[in-house]
Amino acid sequence: MTQARDTALVIFTPSGKRGQVAIGTPVLTAARQLGVDLDSVCGGRGICSKCQVSPGFGDFPKHGLTVTETALSAFNAVEQRYDDKRGLKPGRRLGCQATIEGDVVIDVPPESQVHKQVVRKAAALRDIRMDPATRLYYTQVREPDMHEPTGDLQRLQEALTRDWQIDAINASPRILARLQTALRKGDWSVTVALWQDHNGGPPEVIDIWPGLYEGRLYGLAIDLGSTTIAAHLCDLRNGEVKASGGVMNPQIRFGEDLMSRVSYAMMNRGGDAKMTEVVHDALTALATDLADEAQIAPAQIVEAVIVCNPVMHHLLLGIDPVELGQAPFALATSDAVHARADEFGLTSINPLAQAYLLPCIAGHVGADCAAVALSEEPYKSDDLVLICDVGTNAEILLGTKDRVLACSSPTGPAFEGAQISSGQRAAPGAIERVEINPETKEPRFRVIGSDLWSDEDGFDAATAVSGITGICGSGIIEAVAELRIAGLMDPSGLIGSPEATGTARSVPDGRTYAFVLHDGTGDGGPLITVTQGDIRAIQLAKSALFAGARLLMDELGTDTVDRVVLAGAFGAHISPKHAMVLGMIPDCALSNVTSAGNAAGTGARIALCDISARARIEAEVRNIQKVETAIEPRFQEHFIAANAIPHATAPFPELSKVVTLPDVSFNPGGAGGGGRRRRRRG
Ligand code: FES
Repeated sequence: MTQARDTALVIFTPSGKRGQVAIGTPVLTAARQLGVDLDSVCGGRGICSKCQVSPGFGDFPKHGLTVTETALSAFNAVEQRYDDKRGLKPGRRLGCQATIEGDVVIDVPPESQVHKQVVRKAAALRDIRMDPATRLYYTQVREPDMHEPTGDLQRLQEALTRDWQIDAINASPRILARLQTALRKGDWSVTVALWQDHNGGPPEVIDIWPGLYEGRLYGLAIDLGSTTIAAHLCDLRNGEVKASGGVMNPQIRFGEDLMSRVSYAMMNRGGDAKMTEVVHDALTALATDLADEAQIAPAQIVEAVIVCNPVMHHLLLGIDPVELGQAPFALATSDAVHARADEFGLTSINPLAQAYLLPCIAGHVGADCAAVALSEEPYKSDDLVLICDVGTNAEILLGTKDRVLACSSPTGPAFEGAQISSGQRAAPGAIERVEINPETKEPRFRVIGSDLWSDEDGFDAATAVSGITGICGSGIIEAVAELRIAGLMDPSGLIGSPEATGTARSVPDGRTYAFVLHDGTGDGGPLITVTQGDIRAIQLAKSALFAGARLLMDELGTDTVDRVVLAGAFGAHISPKHAMVLGMIPDCALSNVTSAGNAAGTGARIALCDISARARIEAEVRNIQKVETAIEPRFQEHFIAANAIPHATAPFPELSKVVTLPDVSFNPGGAGGGGRRRRRRG
């Protein structure tokens, strides 16, 4: 006679977690006992369906197990009711209802995992772990009793402790004002959205609904840049980006670069408050637009994570940035800042939404750099990685798992197509790729919106609508690098005369020469040239970037790096070969130069989706050693040496394996170095 067993083996997939549990244990309880990630909003009452699982029956040779149909209890009335009302997928069970009756293999589908991994775009190697700070909790609250007087909030607290082991909550007067109606309307059951402080403080009630709330919660990941503000609206359940958008930073009208905004605040009484107000308005409008685009109620946005440079950080918080304009560049706070989102100007979303601003690294190295670090994790790297987040200001990180350094460098807006004679933002019609034939000196190019090169059949038709309107950041980098490769421009950055270069595309432009990339004047279009002034602007920008990187390399005592990561809104579009021909980045095997896209934005998204990432980056930034470029004399030396293309003294052996740069000089007198002006921090 077989003896009745009192335990059974349960194996969960895909986690592989296994263990013996008592016969009759609900699957949800077994999952919790074994540390398996299985979701629940209703606390096992059979109404939220978040706990769905797929049991497997039959032979599992890998586990040495045969699972019979009786390994789980029969479909019960609660499951039947849910199936009748909402429908369960075939083979699915509610984990809180089905009990374990024999050895069984149970699969937890991705939508039932709380801490699911969200696959980032193919180019990125790591996934985002889902563990948001704000989550929904359903509970049933005891009805009031005249003989045992307690407040509704106290009985809600008691229910949350009983069902969810949440010992204390904070509820604002705004929540208290809605609590009684919600409880009575929900027949003493409610769903609350709780925001959990990652430092262990009591959760804050963000919203409350009668009964089971079946809607979703959303969060904003915001990259507040000096030139543009970009934001992703993310579903806090699965990390999915529901809408993305960007607007120009309206503070531009007070100053194009950071220091001119600081000067504006210094020179104009109330100037800082004006800049705070316009950025708050822009954030509010952007949040409304994204909610519209995703077709959700703005009140469903319950969180925001913001990354920005220190000047943007201070202006966002309503702090006068004047201290950041002068040594020793003291921040009001370098720690992460957490407050209600309306204090960051986000007034169009849930009124109790919480906002989190990543920590700054130092006076010139901000939360945006911390976000890049969170995204690219140099502090986990075995090899020496240089990360350049290229924008109006470059944020630069260099290091390995043993030590990480950071600095910021004032590259100015040239890399973004600004201050370039034919420059424009990356938009349809902008030249983004350039090649120049070294023999014929004839250029060809591609514009955004078409995959065809300008000398290919169909190009004219493909660009008929957009036209050829200008040149964007990646286009100007390629154009200048190609001029150097084709021998039309010498290492000092001088464009040769038509006689010296042998091409009529070199045309006089004042006392210098410009190179004609595209002449659309015959059809009423623009004449797109690369001028000597454009090259100077690019030289200033690239020298600042290189000098910043080189300063960090000095500090680490190295002349080489193992790999380079280019990040930034347009970092994704920079050709590594052309970046190296220009000398934007130190010499490195080309195959080890990669692009991370908008790493600061990705860092914001990671911090939004995964609460543990906040604690992690707060700890990591304390170990990142900051190097101040503004007061470092060697920065100026590196800046001047980096003015030549690619560089006055550094050898670039890896680059010479793939490109041979012609030995030309168009100014034998040697006065052509130019650009020895140090750009202001911007
Ligand atoms: Fe909500 Fe099972 S936990 S239905």
